[in-house]
Amino acid sequence: MSSIVSVQNLRKTFEGGFEALKGVNLEIEEGEILALLGPNGAGKTTLISTICGITLGTSGSITVGGHDVVTGYRAARSLIGLVPQEINLEPFETVMNSVRFSRGLFGKPRNDAYLEDVLKKLSLHDKKDARIRTLSGGMKRRVLIAKALSHEPRVLFLDEPTAGVDVELRKDMWDVVAALKADGVTIILTTHYIEEAEAIADRVGVINKGEILLVQDKAALMAQLGKKELHVELTAPVDAIPTSLSKYELAMGPGGRSLVYSYDTKGERTGITTLLNDLSKAGLKLADMETRQSSLEDIFVGLVKETA
Ligand SMILES: Nc1ncnc2c1ncn2[C@@H]1O[C@H](COP(=O)(O)OP(=O)(O)O)[C@@H](O)[C@H]1O
Ligand SMILES: [Mg+2]
Repeated sequence: MSSIVSVQNLRKTFEGGFEALKGVNLEIEEGEILALLGPNGAGKTTLISTICGITLGTSGSITVGGHDVVTGYRAARSLIGLVPQEINLEPFETVMNSVRFSRGLFGKPRNDAYLEDVLKKLSLHDKKDARIRTLSGGMKRRVLIAKALSHEPRVLFLDEPTAGVDVELRKDMWDVVAALKADGVTIILTTHYIEEAEAIADRVGVINKGEILLVQDKAALMAQLGKKELHVELTAPVDAIPTSLSKYELAMGPGGRSLVYSYDTKGERTGITTLLNDLSKAGLKLADMETRQSSLEDIFVGLVKETA
């Protein structure tokens, strides 16, 4: 696959000396959904603002569709749609006029048929003549997407599309994003919600303190970094873990009523069979057992802690 966005060694130091991006490298493949996952202040908005040419990088280079975002700004920008973090709409304008205006800014010829199609896809068509101030919050967010798509971009950036949005609307937004991907739009979204990245991304990039910690296929990320845990419930509580079991590095559950064994899902041997044998030799009786897969949340928290 070829990259549609290429970010190389990007650094951004704000006036006053704060370094918000510390040498970011990122390749975004055509047609994918990439979630940039990071806590508040990680540099997500700074990164996408720099890719979109709104903020100037201090050093490094960025191309979009092969165009440098500084020297080839107009060509690069015309390929990009940006849905900003803040809702910034003209309250007294109608939906259709607002979307038409956005298209006009890019010097594209009028094409109401295309715009109506965009509104239909976003379930906004019946609101095309409504004034923006009469719309619900969820509809306003979709108007922002319609505006961002008005000039037929190939890459769409969504900056925290569901921050502060209720669960129902968040799911609607995920459906919208999936439909846009089906249309061939490359999508980069930033989020600090792990379940959002888990739900819709093809690849996940984790960013913290201006550095990309990893970018990986979501499924592979979860399989590789994911540990599994075996929870063994005991018929009688223990005060301490028997020393004969020390090599398993077990953790004791609440009240000594259970033992937890962590193992690598990639390992050739899980060690479970010998553990169960050794538990029985140590005189422990099992009431129940359960295995749990660590979630993207555990992985993320672990990574961010390492770089804290
Ligand atoms: N114009 C600015 N001047 C100085 N510091 C800034 C400016 N904009 C953002 N920052 C700082 O850069 C860091 C990254 O900000 P931002 O990219 O908005 O993070 P995120 O979108 O991940 O929450 C934060 O510490 C923020 O305070
Ligand atoms: Mg932000």
